[in-house]
Amino acid sequence: MQHETILVLDFGGQYNQLIARRVRDLNVYAEVLPYTLSAEEIQKKAPKGMILTGGPNSAYGPGALEYDKDIFELGIPILGICYGAQVLAHGLGGEVAKAPASEYGRTEVDINKNGRLFAQVPEKTIAWMSHTDYIKKAPKGFKVTAETPICPVAAMEDVSRGFYATQFHPEVMHTKEGIKILRSFVKDVCGCSGDWHMGSFVENAIETVREKVGSGKVLCALSGGVDSSVSAVILSKAVGKQLTCVFVDHGLLRKNEADEVEAVFGKGGHYDLDFIRVNAQQRFYDKLAGVTDPEKKRKIIGEEFIRVFETEAKKIGKVDFLVQGTIYPDIIESGPGDSATIKSHHNVGGLPEHVDFKDIIEPLKMLFKDEVRKAGMELGIPKHLVMRQPFPGPGLGIRIIGDITEEKVEIVQEADAIYREEVAAYDGGKLAPTLGQYFAALTNVRSVGVMGDFRTYDHAIALRAVETSDFMTAEAAKLPWDLIEKVTTRIVNEVPHVNRVFYDCTNKPPGTIEFE
Ligand code: XMP
Repeated sequence: MQHETILVLDFGGQYNQLIARRVRDLNVYAEVLPYTLSAEEIQKKAPKGMILTGGPNSAYGPGALEYDKDIFELGIPILGICYGAQVLAHGLGGEVAKAPASEYGRTEVDINKNGRLFAQVPEKTIAWMSHTDYIKKAPKGFKVTAETPICPVAAMEDVSRGFYATQFHPEVMHTKEGIKILRSFVKDVCGCSGDWHMGSFVENAIETVREKVGSGKVLCALSGGVDSSVSAVILSKAVGKQLTCVFVDHGLLRKNEADEVEAVFGKGGHYDLDFIRVNAQQRFYDKLAGVTDPEKKRKIIGEEFIRVFETEAKKIGKVDFLVQGTIYPDIIESGPGDSATIKSHHNVGGLPEHVDFKDIIEPLKMLFKDEVRKAGMELGIPKHLVMRQPFPGPGLGIRIIGDITEEKVEIVQEADAIYREEVAAYDGGKLAPTLGQYFAALTNVRSVGVMGDFRTYDHAIALRAVETSDFMTAEAAKLPWDLIEKVTTRIVNEVPHVNRVFYDCTNKPPGTIEFE
């Protein structure tokens, strides 16, 4: 079935997938495509509306991006956001120039409630800005519908032609009324009824994968985490027994985790999957010995994973495809295109240059974590698995700052198990579901302590707990002191070679969730 579609034309901004995601939240299918798409190609797709995204370029002068101006003649409603707003303004005869001052972040905006997008928005609102150019003068036929002390045209519209623009970003959480503005565009202006939901995504993903794989064999890199489990179930529904799931114990898993994963996905478990467990601990320890640089560690782990999968694929024979549970934040943080690399997620930037598979399938690569969970529920995956806190592919390897040894792995495993047990039990189990992620890490700090009248010189553990839903930003959780106190006492008493415990109070940004 063809769903109502909003096309998001990508001019290179940071939030492009976020725009698509907000449209999906309104139950309307959104597809992100490059700004170079021709008017003819767009017409063939028959979208109900188009959104032109933000981007780092200037809308005028030599650096301006070349797009097909005929898109303005298609009679399809257009919303321009930030750079997209400037594209509309410049392309239709308005004036775009360098702003007298840049606006970054939280900005107060005066709204004209008669604007079609703003009927539900108060006259003064807070929006998120990020620009150095601005629309100095709206094109002929446009009405200015919002302004700030710096922007004379913070929003504009030409209702008769179906053109709308906001200099600010309605898609980010910090724009207070953003979702209402997007809803007005998608539902009122474009007339979308909302015929898409996560079930449609799942059906479509199964169909697409089935077509791609044909009669080939597929190997799924299964870690037991939410993303790879959801990917494996999609693949299993798509190609059944053509799929083999390979679970690699790289010796950097949490305490008892390998057995727990095998119990769910292996023989006699919840799923009827062909499941292979590879015990590759020593191989990873050998490669990682003495390596301290976080990016090197990530790359080594990423490459070793692939080599293990290649070996298993050869044993199975004729495996064309490797399936990975990559999700969108993995891609954006690994620095695609011109974006900065924050860290190489093992399944994206951590991949070696040569991979011995015909293709890699990543059915979730455009979704955010909470959307993956919705997809998991649609697929009937048990709630306790879908709601598991994420665990990174490189595992404890990026929770041990500095070089990795078996002894350090054991220390962090034990400390982490105590911490997770106490958090899970706290307040009758009410605290844990409020936390996006919580874990222990080994700090690479040794300090002097005194235990039973003896001097100690031992490791310090760091505890981390964050509140987040999309894992792109996160707030350090204000854990109750009695909990931290109990966990600290237990770790210091029960885990050999630990004599100190820290609590990490850093938000993301400026920190990241993991330590490396
Ligand atoms: P950061 O540390 O980037 O983490 O703030 C954001 C989320 O991503 C997880 N993470 C990873 N997941 N492979 C993964 O599968 C990786 O290489 C990786 N690095 C970080 C992290 O646990 C958090 O949920």
